[in-house]
Amino acid sequence: MRSYFYHKKLKKVVPVSDEKQNKIAKKRLDEIFKFKRDLIPDYFIDRWSEVALYNPGGDVNNANAIIINPEDGAYDLSNPLNNLTGKEWIKFTCSWFIFNALQKDLKEEREVSLNTQDHPATFSPTMIEGFVNFFTKRGEFVLDPFCGIGSTLVACKRTGRVGYGVELNKKYYELSLKRTPEFRKNIFNDSAENITRLNFPKIDFSISSPPYWDVLNRSTKDFKNKRTKKGLDYNYSQQVEDLGNISDYDIFVERVVKIYFDIYNLLKNGGYLVVIVKNVKKDGIMYPLAWDLARKLSAKYKLKDEKIWIQDKVGLSPYGYPAAWASNILHHYCLIFQKK
Ligand SMILES: C[S@@+](CC[C@H](N)C(=O)[O-])C[C@H]1O[C@@H](n2cnc3c(N)ncnc32)[C@H](O)[C@@H]1O
Repeated sequence: MRSYFYHKKLKKVVPVSDEKQNKIAKKRLDEIFKFKRDLIPDYFIDRWSEVALYNPGGDVNNANAIIINPEDGAYDLSNPLNNLTGKEWIKFTCSWFIFNALQKDLKEEREVSLNTQDHPATFSPTMIEGFVNFFTKRGEFVLDPFCGIGSTLVACKRTGRVGYGVELNKKYYELSLKRTPEFRKNIFNDSAENITRLNFPKIDFSISSPPYWDVLNRSTKDFKNKRTKKGLDYNYSQQVEDLGNISDYDIFVERVVKIYFDIYNLLKNGGYLVVIVKNVKKDGIMYPLAWDLARKLSAKYKLKDEKIWIQDKVGLSPYGYPAAWASNILHHYCLIFQKK
């Protein structure tokens, strides 16, 4: 008879040889499969014949976790948040990560948009998959109020979540529809400032990156010329509703904050909101956009944490050289909030 129970001994997960414990474990597993099936991630359901009951202390009667491959870790059946094993969960809790655009994402974008660089500031669906996998379970609802060409929606499609989005620029909106036609009814070509009128259902999680103030309008002549020559956008649009066209910093911050406050009412209780943003510079002065959003949004949300996204494959420009200090900002803040 195969073993149905594993326990940790000497930092190693070993099969239990005790026949009595083995029988109790088999019975518990049968009950779990019958009565708690909804709690079990697909990965375990699909390979149920290989699943063993697990308790780190080796207590079969109080075991409430399941395991297949000890290398992948165990899934705790009382986990209300996601479908991750303990090992996967802990791995994601590191306060920083390095991520550069991936070829597989660029290829997927190219196939749909014919031009990966049409939008001047997208993020990679693979990077967003990590957040979606951590903050939701399979089948749950995820909203991106600045969805651009739909990178968050692609992450939802890949991970079996339901994506919702808003995007002001019609061209980007259409690209997001092309990339995720299954979410067609959930994506709106509108301003996120109208989000309360768009009839969204209760959302489990929201992740987005707003315009980083008007930085694109202030990019170097060289950047603008290069992109214009190639027929690419150097900013999002000329529309007045485009938050990237607001030149007054305080007004910009106020309008972004209002949108995230509106999303508070759409989020389920205890749901998380992730805002990916940078501190920015204007005329040699730093404007702490990430920190200002963190402080202002905590008037309503619990500010839980920051996770720093680092890009280490971007070339450095000699901004202040040889006269004054000016950094190349190559890190972003993924600010993590929770609805109280
Ligand atoms: C940083 S980009 C987000 C890109 C997106 N994460 C992606 O990967 O494609 C910000 C987006 O916000 C959009 N935007 C600007 N103002 C908006 C508004 N008032 N409502 C909705 N979208 C807006 C811009 O057109 C742009 O696509």
